[in-house]
Amino acid sequence: MAFLADHLKRIKPSATMAVTDKARALKAAGRDVIGLGAGEPDFDTPDNIKQAAIKAILDGKTAKYTAVEGMAELKAAVVRKFKRENQLDYKPSQIIVGTGGKQVLYNGLMATLNPGDEVIIPAPYWVSYPDMVALAGGEPVIVEGRMQDGFKIKPEALERAITPKTKWIIFNSPSNPTGAAYTRDELKAITAVLARHPQVWVMSDDIYEHLVYDDFTFYSPAQIEPSLYERTLTVNGVSKTYCMTGWRIGYAGGPEPLIKAMAMIQSQSTSNPVAVSQYAALEALDGPQDFIPKHNKIFKERRDLCVSMLNQANGLKCPKPEGAFYVYPSCAGTIGKTAPGKKLATDEDFVTELLEAEGVAVVQGTPFGMGPAFRISYAIKTEDLEEACRRIQRFCGNLK
Ligand SMILES: Cc1ncc(COP(=O)(O)O)c(C=O)c1O
Repeated sequence: MAFLADHLKRIKPSATMAVTDKARALKAAGRDVIGLGAGEPDFDTPDNIKQAAIKAILDGKTAKYTAVEGMAELKAAVVRKFKRENQLDYKPSQIIVGTGGKQVLYNGLMATLNPGDEVIIPAPYWVSYPDMVALAGGEPVIVEGRMQDGFKIKPEALERAITPKTKWIIFNSPSNPTGAAYTRDELKAITAVLARHPQVWVMSDDIYEHLVYDDFTFYSPAQIEPSLYERTLTVNGVSKTYCMTGWRIGYAGGPEPLIKAMAMIQSQSTSNPVAVSQYAALEALDGPQDFIPKHNKIFKERRDLCVSMLNQANGLKCPKPEGAFYVYPSCAGTIGKTAPGKKLATDEDFVTELLEAEGVAVVQGTPFGMGPAFRISYAIKTEDLEEACRRIQRFCGNLK
């Protein structure tokens, strides 16, 4: 009898972690490596947030368990956030706070999926979605957003993918890995399809909400199509906007019975999210927001820089996305060419040879559900990004 559980066979280790590990090993061996793999802002957590956490510790507020689903003050701040920024009305009983958006998404799936339930996932997708669905016993159903459509799915394709077994769609705009974000009209077309299929619930992962550029306006599905409110879990968190990936706080608003079920899972697995982080998140949501446009100005400059430089590289094609801190260039034009000593057959070959030859770490596209392509995170110092893009240009230029 095998000791490890069968459901482990349905999942695989994260490809983003694998490339980060490989880059770390090369760096440790003394190589000059520029990592474009990390899915987190390079900026530090703002000072007011750090101070709020320190004060909570010194005031003795963080020694004890809090309510499993998050402390009342933080849930009240989340209610205000949803009202202020998304025009969504939730009561505190409709809010759950968890250990990162990741745990909230996972608990949502664990609370609802039965064997055979289908979950629609637009591709390219965040690597964790299909594995989370599989671990929770469901079946991922992939709908492709094509590059020529800005990596956004078409309403007709969504309609075709819906079956009586469809329980959820996981919707992520702006997207990891492409940065694509749906405009109001594009989202309206998608929500119009969903409105016609009452068995389909919407898990909206809005974690990159604030990271949008060129006057783009973000909308959440339940905001655009109020009839979806009763079957939408609106997920968000402080990791990306507030540079708090290490603090591990995410949250969601949704129908009370679903939130209760998720809280029950949390109560029997991790209990409350870390108390000191909850105080920090409270300050993040209620405190000054003025650093966000400052960060976005820098992110936009970096996006423009790398889109322009990558489009000058032989064999690469890089669309300009609306948000997040990722670009997702196609490397189809390099496949079949030869890097020193190796013919490139896949995007994995491309990223492996790029790392070997030029010390630039990116993540191959195939694990995100669409290749040959790769993901670049431009959340690194602008000079390093520019140097990395120069090296990518040189690598592509040297392919035979
Ligand atoms: C699309 C998406 N959703 C959710 C998360 C989870 O973030 P966290 O668990 O830090 O809140 C990430 C992190 O990379 C992400 O890219």
